[in-house]
Amino acid sequence: MARSDETSGRRAPRDAQAEGDINSSPRRREWQLANLGAETRRLLEEDARYFLHQSLSTPCLDALVGAEGVHLIDAEGRRYLDFHGNNVHQLGYGHPRVIAAVQEALATLPFSPRRFTNRYAVALAARLVALAPGGLGKVLFAPGGAEAIGMALKLARVATGRHKTVSMWDSFHGASLDAISIGGEAVFRRGIGPLLPGTEHAPPCDPRACLYGCGGHCNARCADYVDYVLAKEEDVAAVIVETVRCTDVQVPPLEYYRRLRAACDRHGALLILDEIPIGLGRTGYLFAFERYGIVPDMVVLGKGLGGGVWPMAALLVDERLDVAGDQALGHYTHEKSPVGCAAALATLDVLESDGLLARAEVIGARLQARLDRLRTRVPLIGEVRRAGALLGVELVRADGTPARDAAEAVMYACLSAGLSFKVGQGNVLNLSPPLVICDADLQAAGDILERSLADVAAC
Ligand SMILES: Cc1ncc(COP(=O)(O)O)c(C=O)c1O
Repeated sequence: MARSDETSGRRAPRDAQAEGDINSSPRRREWQLANLGAETRRLLEEDARYFLHQSLSTPCLDALVGAEGVHLIDAEGRRYLDFHGNNVHQLGYGHPRVIAAVQEALATLPFSPRRFTNRYAVALAARLVALAPGGLGKVLFAPGGAEAIGMALKLARVATGRHKTVSMWDSFHGASLDAISIGGEAVFRRGIGPLLPGTEHAPPCDPRACLYGCGGHCNARCADYVDYVLAKEEDVAAVIVETVRCTDVQVPPLEYYRRLRAACDRHGALLILDEIPIGLGRTGYLFAFERYGIVPDMVVLGKGLGGGVWPMAALLVDERLDVAGDQALGHYTHEKSPVGCAAALATLDVLESDGLLARAEVIGARLQARLDRLRTRVPLIGEVRRAGALLGVELVRADGTPARDAAEAVMYACLSAGLSFKVGQGNVLNLSPPLVICDADLQAAGDILERSLADVAAC
């Protein structure tokens, strides 16, 4: 029987190391020894004893005892400002209006078997349709993002009578077998055997890795390549893209989506946008595609839809795609969860009443301005990419190559000082603050980041 990387001592493959948040790195072990007490370490050992080990998460970093507002609280009593939150945390944790809505649903209708509907589910469906632009007039709910992606893939097959897809290298659409087939991260695809047939991949709109030599000034040639593939194949059901790639914050220019939309229309392929981590306010828009002035045929939401409390995802599609009445697209046990729908309705209420879309822009702009100022003192800071309150801070060495080691060092220095975030693509600090963060906490997070960057750069 094959042993895990942890127990076999096998080195994590290079692309896994590039994730920058490896659960077996020497720096992680050092951090744990310096920051965790015996009781927490015992709990972590017990966790590792019972849970299957898997890449990127188990064994775990630390143990939590609380999550409130913009903070996670660990078993040592340390409070982390959470700029990661797996992107469920637009409203932070335990938002009183979300909790009240969840409690009300729990007390009245804790579960709704699939053959029944309920007022929470219908209200959420109507609300999402009312908020969505264009003809996005039909929905299905699912307990998680990967399941909702799976529903989109099935619907694209039924609606077009085709099965092929074009998606992007380096993208992530969930960890299920269908989702990793369209995903483009080797850490999920390697060593797992045959993936779904017909899942073709194209180069993403990523200036760092642009095959068309855009040199950072995007010429949207990568969108033309998708057009070329659609023309050659003739029978592609759908093009699937993360509107803004979350891991390292790739924000394509307007022209990219204009051309992608036109290519899909020209060749009869559906355009599916994955906004699971970046929808619902993160980019300053309710739907991230709104910044591009296009409307997809389907959009997938998830994560923060459940208010940081409940697993909840939604597939929102053009009304004319309601063509699969004799097919089980979803059929998930918790498909119309009254509790999840109540959490989602409260989330949408708070996003609107508290002006969090506008706040996302303010938060992001402040962080970016700070990092831009700091760059003069800390040349380790390369490009800072931003969409609303989602920032990707590229760390680079003097020779311009990715500063992977420094990125990991900055992440652990920030964790020690009480700020949590993820590193994407090895050298990009991914900053995703809760949209409810107050000015003082934002300032404190910026201070920690600034000190850690300066300290690591000085080493
Ligand atoms: C872009 C993107 N799509 C899909 C998913 C999958 O969502 P879930 O973990 O709810 O299955 C994720 C999760 O991180 C994601 O970031």
